[in-house]
Amino acid sequence: MSVQEVYGLAPLAAVAVAAVFVGWAVWWIVRYLLADSMTRLSIRQAVRVRRGWKRLAPMLKLAATDKTPTALALLSNTDGKPIKPRVLVPALKVNHDAYGVIARATCLPGVGLEEFQKAAPHLANAWRCTRVAVTQDKPGQVVIRGVRLDPLKFKTEHSPTGLESDKVAWWDLGLDEYAQPVSVDLTQVPGVTVAGLPGFGKTSLINRLISDWAPSPAVQFACADGKVSTAREGDYAHLVKRMFAFVGDDLEEANALFRRLVELRRSRVSAAERILGVQSMWEVGPSPAWPLVVLIIDEAHTYFRDHKGSDPKTKKLAALAAENARLVEDLVKKGRSMGILVILATQKSTGDAIPTFIRDVCPVGLSFAQKTAEAAVAALGEDIREWPDANPINLQDRSYVGVASMNHQSQPGFIRIRTPFVSGTDSAAIAQQTAHLAQDPGELLASQVGDAAPIDLAKGTGPTAEAA
Ligand SMILES: Nc1ncnc2c1ncn2[C@@H]1O[C@H](COP(=O)(O)OP(=O)(O)O)[C@@H](O)[C@H]1O
Ligand SMILES: [Mg+2]
Repeated sequence: MSVQEVYGLAPLAAVAVAAVFVGWAVWWIVRYLLADSMTRLSIRQAVRVRRGWKRLAPMLKLAATDKTPTALALLSNTDGKPIKPRVLVPALKVNHDAYGVIARATCLPGVGLEEFQKAAPHLANAWRCTRVAVTQDKPGQVVIRGVRLDPLKFKTEHSPTGLESDKVAWWDLGLDEYAQPVSVDLTQVPGVTVAGLPGFGKTSLINRLISDWAPSPAVQFACADGKVSTAREGDYAHLVKRMFAFVGDDLEEANALFRRLVELRRSRVSAAERILGVQSMWEVGPSPAWPLVVLIIDEAHTYFRDHKGSDPKTKKLAALAAENARLVEDLVKKGRSMGILVILATQKSTGDAIPTFIRDVCPVGLSFAQKTAEAAVAALGEDIREWPDANPINLQDRSYVGVASMNHQSQPGFIRIRTPFVSGTDSAAIAQQTAHLAQDPGELLASQVGDAAPIDLAKGTGPTAEAA
């Protein structure tokens, strides 16, 4: 190629570069214009973060000095002056979402997770963020999450899809204080407690779980609602269609339901090997024939609270309440491997609302706002005293309706979650669509026990032996 030809190509190259630049600019402008107002603020914030990083990083001691000259520097002529050490600044990639920025920074010698975490409050100031959290997702890189707005303070909504989820017993809860989605795996979990002042979102939270799980034929629901007398009233009136059992505030009826479920648990224990081929339902997972049974006990204090008095009527109620507690304790302590999950909700903040011997065996606990430190302890256990930031006594402002503090036995500490609101219309529609899936798990079991070939222990035949 001649020199003229090369020169002839230069304008073409310039045009190509300009085209790429224009394309890039157009893409950014379109993205900006299509974004909602919250996201636009975040886009502008991300630009500022990128632009200021080279100056900010050394000021926050997030830079390293490399005194060893590079090969190129050694060759260059410095007129006898010493070669200047190089200041290295971590490379920063910045993304945005509606709530703020997510930046990924590379680590440098002497600048790692700990240094970034120490600098987090200063990063929050410089980037105008309410909160900055630094985590490490892979070696050599940290993730810096900065939220401009407090995600806990923004109400969110959830529209149930009506489709069966591919994840079994997966509970999507909402967003944490960094707007990251939070879910809990409820496989192998026998009990969940939900506490909090009235009107702060306990029933809505359960409503969401039912709406999300109802499309699966491998889940069956029963409910005791201590707030109402009949299934036609109250928060669950439109969901009853999808339940195999419902009782109101009558202690005797509740007693009968709990007893029925304890009996189901026992029958499942004796049938498990034969029907499932394993001893724990979770080894094979729930199925339409052996569904996960979710028992919801809302306003749980109704069924357990102490009745004091010596007249026969009060004595009878006291005996029923004590037995209810014993039956539910049985379900929570022994129901896990048989596929029984109990969810207890209460607004009462004393230890007898959900007896501590039940609360302490529930691995997942949530609490919406609480009035006193004692109430927070009754709801979440003693540990909450050590996590003042997450204490639900700080959630009493009405802007925190729908925000709960959660602990999970698998990890230390508590997280705060903004749970979304599911409208009654949406959940009623889901219940209507899925009503045909409601089946009594006791009847399902009885029909299979009847069908199953009798086991001959001496010969070791029967379905279990065949499966082995
Ligand atoms: N996650 C939420 N987001 C926004 N508003 C909510 C949320 N949960 C509940 N609410 C509002 O609070 C009201 C009471 O909620 P509810 O779940 O019945 O409270 P609780 O069962 O704790 O007494 C609801 O009718 C709704 O208006
Ligand atoms: Mg309620």
